[in-house]
Amino acid sequence: MNYTDVKRGLPQRDSKVIAVINQKGGVGKSTTVVNLAACLAEGKKKVLVIDFDPQGNATSGFGVEKEELEHDIYDVILHDVPIEDVIRETCAKGVFIAPATIQLATAEIELVAEMSRESILKESVEKIKDEFDYVFIDCPPSLGLLTINALVAADSLIIPIQCEYYALEGVAKLLESMQMVKRRMNPNLEIFGVVMTMFDSRTTLSKQVVDEVQEYFGKKMFKSIIPRNVKLSEAPSHGLPISLYARMSKGALAYQKLAREVVARG
Ligand SMILES: Nc1ncnc2c1ncn2[C@@H]1O[C@H](COP(=O)(O)OP(=O)(O)OP(=O)(O)O)[C@@H](O)[C@H]1O
Ligand SMILES: [Mg+2]
Repeated sequence: MNYTDVKRGLPQRDSKVIAVINQKGGVGKSTTVVNLAACLAEGKKKVLVIDFDPQGNATSGFGVEKEELEHDIYDVILHDVPIEDVIRETCAKGVFIAPATIQLATAEIELVAEMSRESILKESVEKIKDEFDYVFIDCPPSLGLLTINALVAADSLIIPIQCEYYALEGVAKLLESMQMVKRRMNPNLEIFGVVMTMFDSRTTLSKQVVDEVQEYFGKKMFKSIIPRNVKLSEAPSHGLPISLYARMSKGALAYQKLAREVVARG
């Protein structure tokens, strides 16, 4: 069953477009996108993941074989391929993905010459977002044109922050980019929430970092904290979200809790 079959006859939804963003690398963006999407879908939400990172970690995290793809999100933003044509089902029922491959790496440069280069993703997202309850955009670890496109396309942001030294380093720069896009192109853009990742309950450092981030972001911080959990790091190598790989693991329970909080925030 492809996306067009699924689309037929569905009522319009009050959809949310959420960019999962932090220009710092390896903080848990893709892990959050894959597992939060899967948990929301278990709660009967219909979710689209847009992989907007040339590393394609969300794509492989759902077990999509990149070699077999005819088109990916790169073709959507640079070669006018309709986004409907690249959206496919994933192993998680209710989660769909617009996949990315390494091709997308050249987009950062190619986009520079395009008209309305900051809003190319938005044009495609607008066309299909009503079919989904949630659209998550997995951002690359940079503040280049791909990330700017995500900021323009999104209604709000989820910012994952790793529990480690210098956790808040770079966050001011990220918020600056957000404000710039808000002023010029997307006045309603807001922070949906901040999620702490890779929490290690044995260290005082993890607790200190949580306190520090709490002070900085206040109520924006989710109460659910994602622990460092080896199952979460193993699941992608099996091409499965945690809910299908180790559903009773601490990591799975934490992402389920986060999903409930996301729904409760409306
Ligand atoms: N809670 C966790 N417990 C254990 N390992 C984790 C956890 N979250 C993420 N990881 C692992 O840490 C690494 C980085 O995570 P992830 O790829 O989600 O970060 P990212 O922010 O998307 O990285 P990038 O900036 O490169 O896109 C991965 O190997 C992932 O499996
Ligand atoms: Mg990633």
